Amino acid sequence: MDIDAVELRSVREPDLDLLRRFDTEVGLIGPNWYGFRDAGRQRRRFETDGFLGAEDGRLIVAVEDEVAGFVGWNPAGQGAGRYRSIGIALLPEWRGKGVGTRAQQLLCRYLFTHTTVHRLEAGTQPENEAEQRALRRIGFRQEGVLRGAEFRDGGWRDIVVFGLLRGEQPGE
Ligand SMILES: CC(C)(COP(=O)(O)OP(=O)(O)OC[C@H]1O[C@@H](n2cnc3c(N)ncnc32)[C@H](O)[C@@H]1OP(=O)(O)O)[C@@H](O)C(=O)NCCC(=O)NCCS
Repeated sequence: MDIDAVELRSVREPDLDLLRRFDTEVGLIGPNWYGFRDAGRQRRRFETDGFLGAEDGRLIVAVEDEVAGFVGWNPAGQGAGRYRSIGIALLPEWRGKGVGTRAQQLLCRYLFTHTTVHRLEAGTQPENEAEQRALRRIGFRQEGVLRGAEFRDGGWRDIVVFGLLRGEQPGE
């Protein structure tokens, strides 16, 4: 697949069906399945600000007009030192083709280009090898393991934390 065909774009009204699916189809979102969510939140958020808030947001991952999934970011940290935590979910048929690596690389570039943020963080499951490999390839460094930091699938589980500072992306 042509990795240059991967792009990020803002959320459009027809994308809401896909976002709702991640809230209501068991496990579609991958290891970040925490149970059913109120799928109406997607339309409410879209009508509020199109998923583009001052400190958080979502963009669609598109490959030649086909929707592959979404990326998102949220505020983390305190006061003037606030940074962003990023995340991604691709549909199963788009996984393992380089799309996740490219999409997160584009998201980091986007946030460093259009905001003054200095640090990006990403947390993932110890067994999520694809995400860890993708983050490392983009330039993230593993910073540590938060023990028992999330309750998922019936148990308390660890989270591996990765960080990327402005200027650390390869090719910058
Ligand atoms: C995690 C995810 C974003 C990775 O994106 P992807 O497009 O599938 O991954 P890529 O094809 O870019 O591959 C990234 C790396 O992982 C490897 N990889 C891909 N699939 C893998 C798998 N199932 N198991 C182990 N390694 C895998 C690739 O070989 C590549 O390694 P390399 O750069 O050393 O060659 C995607 O699989 C996904 O959306 N999964 C479900 C949601 C999720 O887990 N989100 C992150 C939660 S924190």
